[in-house]
Amino acid sequence: MKPESLMMTYGYNPEWSEGAIKTPIYQTSTFVFKTAEEGKRFFAMAYGKMERPLDEPMGLIYSRINNPNLQILEERLALYEGTDDAAVFESGMSGISTVMLSFLRPGDVLIFSNPTYGGTHHFIRHVLTDFGIEVYAFNSSVNVDEMRLELSEKGLLDRVRMIYIETPANPTNELIDIAPWAKFRDELKSKGNEIKLVVDNTYMGPLWQKPMELGADLVCYSATKFLNGHSDLIAGVVCGEKQSMIPVKTMRTFIGNMAGPHTSWLLTRSVETLKLRMDRQGANAQKIVEWLLQHPAISRVYYPGLASQGADQVEIFKRQCTHPGAMISFDVKGGEKSAFAVLNALKLIKLAVSLGSNESLAQHPYSMTHADVPDDVKESLNLTDAMIRLSVGIEDSEDIISDLKQALNSIS
Ligand SMILES: Cc1ncc(COP(=O)(O)O)c(C=O)c1O
Repeated sequence: MKPESLMMTYGYNPEWSEGAIKTPIYQTSTFVFKTAEEGKRFFAMAYGKMERPLDEPMGLIYSRINNPNLQILEERLALYEGTDDAAVFESGMSGISTVMLSFLRPGDVLIFSNPTYGGTHHFIRHVLTDFGIEVYAFNSSVNVDEMRLELSEKGLLDRVRMIYIETPANPTNELIDIAPWAKFRDELKSKGNEIKLVVDNTYMGPLWQKPMELGADLVCYSATKFLNGHSDLIAGVVCGEKQSMIPVKTMRTFIGNMAGPHTSWLLTRSVETLKLRMDRQGANAQKIVEWLLQHPAISRVYYPGLASQGADQVEIFKRQCTHPGAMISFDVKGGEKSAFAVLNALKLIKLAVSLGSNESLAQHPYSMTHADVPDDVKESLNLTDAMIRLSVGIEDSEDIISDLKQALNSIS
């Protein structure tokens, strides 16, 4: 069966909870063991001192280690992603940072695609470097051969331990070709180096891009976005095969940044409607892009698959994505002044950061989500002060277009 058919029921039996059709919230910090022997056995399995029999579920111990709301949600998310396991965190950033802290040590090299979400950029540039990790950015026009040459000239090739890709990039919708970087990972691995390819798939959700099928080791999400889609929580998800997930879950246990029962319960509710919401958001976005493309006050629209993104980008889109998504960026004529006038005039669309929710949101990446990225880097990436980023919601597409129309009138 398809994941969307199983999202309401998978991994939960109503008999466990008085017949309740929905999983109750297990708002508890700890779990009572039947006997001391049982407690010993559960800990032995949790700490890997004993192999867990395949037919035996993980015993419940303490909500930093496991909790039914967290486990049921993780099983459903792993089903969507087609992976062995998933780990849910209290934010997208805690998932991403935990993945990096799980696999990188002082002296290691991380190479990452540029631009990334501003928080990820800050963590890589300012936190990892303080821990002695060397970081190298590449943008979508840099190919693997160029990166190999640059790293080997600097004597760093053997120290690469992680390739981190965000695609489509926030906010330029620039696509990074995952498959050649997976091949590069294999090439470096064949020399005996342990190296992970990690993909932030937040913009596409598990529906429209499948990084694991293209060779990723781990897929990260800000679950605050499409996965939750209701703008009422902050959460993160990391998915992957068992071998890559064990260090991540172990690190999470000791950092203690797992999602709590209430966040997990809300997110479990949300993934039930993930496909419905994303289908609608994606269809709305395609209609809005068509409308924006002919508007005289707009100088450029950034949306995957558009010819204006460049021929290489169109090719990557065809190979890598099944839909162009529900995130649109566009430049208005007249720079920041015009962009602000449009944002201030919006009525239905809310002026707020974040994305992927059921209501449409717009913001100014140059001065908001990407304020921390140096101006020269932003400009080199086409991230201009004229750009507005629009996250398309589930409203009626005509109403969203009317709102954009009246707001753009304020500058036309
Ligand atoms: C692409 C992307 N990745 C990661 C994050 C971080 O997620 P969170 O805000 O849930 O920590 C964001 C947040 O906007 C994002 O847009």
